[in-house]
Amino acid sequence: MRIGVLTSGGDAPGMNATIRTVAKVAIARGHEAIGIHNGYVGLMQGNMAPLVLSEVDGISRLGGTILGSARSAEFRTADGRELAREQLELNEIDGLVVIGGNGSLAGAHALAAVSKTRIVGIPASIDNDIGHTRTAVGVDTAVNTIVEACDRITDTATAHRRAFIVEVMGRDNGFLALRSGLAAEADAVLITERKLDEDTVVRQLGELLKRSFAPGRMKRRVLIIKSEGVPIPTSILVERLRDSLSSDAPGVTIRETVLGHVVRGGSPSQADRVIAQRLAFNAAMALESDADDIMVAWDVVTEGVGMMTDDPRVRWIPLSDVLKETELVLQGTSSVTLDRIRLLERTEPVLAL
Ligand code: F6P
Repeated sequence: MRIGVLTSGGDAPGMNATIRTVAKVAIARGHEAIGIHNGYVGLMQGNMAPLVLSEVDGISRLGGTILGSARSAEFRTADGRELAREQLELNEIDGLVVIGGNGSLAGAHALAAVSKTRIVGIPASIDNDIGHTRTAVGVDTAVNTIVEACDRITDTATAHRRAFIVEVMGRDNGFLALRSGLAAEADAVLITERKLDEDTVVRQLGELLKRSFAPGRMKRRVLIIKSEGVPIPTSILVERLRDSLSSDAPGVTIRETVLGHVVRGGSPSQADRVIAQRLAFNAAMALESDADDIMVAWDVVTEGVGMMTDDPRVRWIPLSDVLKETELVLQGTSSVTLDRIRLLERTEPVLAL
């Protein structure tokens, strides 16, 4: 077989470990591994070349992706996918591994509908917003990066008796904010899914700040983690809180830090490397056994969904099911999201003490 592999959408730490495993397993089992450059853009252009072992040796420790990645508006059109189909045929690609987030997996499903090439997706996105998989390649590293940044901020905030609002990535999904907030001892976490209005957020945080810096409590730092999808610009939030704090806690200052793309880079954690390897191994095996239009999922949350593999953590799930569940995750109505909101509501009074 000729097995193509591409990385698409926002890069995620661990993508390289995923590419390496796909290539190594393919070659070990007598297939050819073809690296497709710059995601679907490169696929539509036929920008691909065989991957040799010396190219993938030692890349697991690297962030980013050696294949390059892209977001493509053209691939979202039927004409774009036709170009991709033609290139797959022309280059005799029997199986394609798509490593990426929800948009990339939706693209994989749409391509599977028109192409004879068998397609397997591997979830890779720091946002952790892909349905039916408890995690995706990159999530663990991103959380660790946020926690490390917050720990550093805590050092300086404590020295100056300051409150910080730290904005983290996560587009429509608050997982990164919630998980890192718990680990970094945040006093409050703002996630998109809770859909609180601006005045309520300002009032609640204002009370939190007053209580925290009151003479009896005398906290030295307050850390508020805000997910980027919360529709209140961080600078506006800081401004409104400054007003509310000026008379109640004079001398206490508020600062903001937007971590942005810092969170997407860096050497992947051991967890991300191992998850990447186990998913990639199963993706290559799935292609060998004629599977098509599926995603390999890690630690599937819902019982009875998908097909078991030899790896107790990995299941094959039809991409159509993955995408349906992803919709619910993005709308904030999936059971996983509702559990997260419940967790936040239960822990909130303790965080804010
Ligand atoms: O989907 C991953 C992600 O990093 C989101 O958290 C973020 O909103 C988005 O990508 C940023 O995209 P770009 O790199 O295109 O600015």
